[in-house]
Amino acid sequence: MSDSFIPISKPFIGAREKELVLDALDSGWVSSIGKYIDEFEANFARYCGTTYALAVSNGTTGLHLALATLGLQPGDEVIVPDLTFVATANAVAYTGATPILADIDADTLCIDPMSVKSLISERTKAIIPVHLYGHPADMDALMEIGAAHGVDIIEDAAEAHGAEYKGRRVGGLGKCGVFSFYGNKVITTGEGGMLTTNDQKFYQHARRLRDHAMSTQRRYFHEERGFNYRITNLQAALGVAQLERIEEFLGRRTEIMSWYNSEIATTDHIRLNRVKNWAKSAFWMICLEVDWLDVRRNAPRCIHAGTQSARHRYASLFLCDVVNADVQAGLATNLGPQVADRPKSALLLRTDES
Ligand SMILES: Cc1ncc(COP(=O)(O)O)c(C=O)c1O
Repeated sequence: MSDSFIPISKPFIGAREKELVLDALDSGWVSSIGKYIDEFEANFARYCGTTYALAVSNGTTGLHLALATLGLQPGDEVIVPDLTFVATANAVAYTGATPILADIDADTLCIDPMSVKSLISERTKAIIPVHLYGHPADMDALMEIGAAHGVDIIEDAAEAHGAEYKGRRVGGLGKCGVFSFYGNKVITTGEGGMLTTNDQKFYQHARRLRDHAMSTQRRYFHEERGFNYRITNLQAALGVAQLERIEEFLGRRTEIMSWYNSEIATTDHIRLNRVKNWAKSAFWMICLEVDWLDVRRNAPRCIHAGTQSARHRYASLFLCDVVNADVQAGLATNLGPQVADRPKSALLLRTDES
């Protein structure tokens, strides 16, 4: 990789991260017991404004844990957006339930509540809005649909740490929220995740399931089938240090987004992330959405090949064999491979900056 190459994403690991991880190592508590896990959970819950937070091994296991806690089983249906990372649908499939694909909203690229409404059946047990690329889904409309049909909402907030919906941080709006701390996320623990909720019963059940459903009364007695979805104290130490700096990272992302906004003239055919007036985006991915013919005409002017990395947006799940979707193709399918995610590394500097 050349020195001038700008990666699409890069973790920012400083002195504080090293200090806390070394402290965790020196303590000897290297597995899933240790003060940093408690501290990370308490601090993250406070940050999201939720009563509880439960650290898990990654975002995918966090989603599965949430669905397992709700008791999902074969025959049940869970509505997910067509445009998301496949983990959202995979977690549903792990329970034996069927993911049902809803269409997306053209502006937010998040699940479209109208489409969700049309897909609700008596088998629907949950809806998983994904706060895609850091922009919150329209939660009020979804919560209303959920309440009308007795269906729980699980927020897939894997990409949206610190994003706000009508002034409230995501993760505390539905039954629970699930975050990822993979290396390219707003904050990282290497691998890791967090489940957030205000529901005490849900939290206690999820907490037991995270550790093989061991009885809280008798050690090594197991009341149901659980999992090992624990995080380590070493990862949590990194998480504590990263969370201390989250506002700095989010501020930097917003600043980088403003550079793209000021340097790229958007048209009907070339679009950057749009932010609803009720939303604060975490700008996890900066997306250049281009209609195919215009890419050929304009791409050389806005992408410096070889110096910046970019990636295509997620494929519509409708097109992925693994999802077995019994739905009509919608907007996400028809967008094709036209959205390119642009670098937004917290370290990215403007080339004209000293
Ligand atoms: C929308 C979405 N959901 C779930 C996940 C899964 O998170 P993890 O990679 O930590 O398992 C990701 C991670 O990339 C994601 O982007």
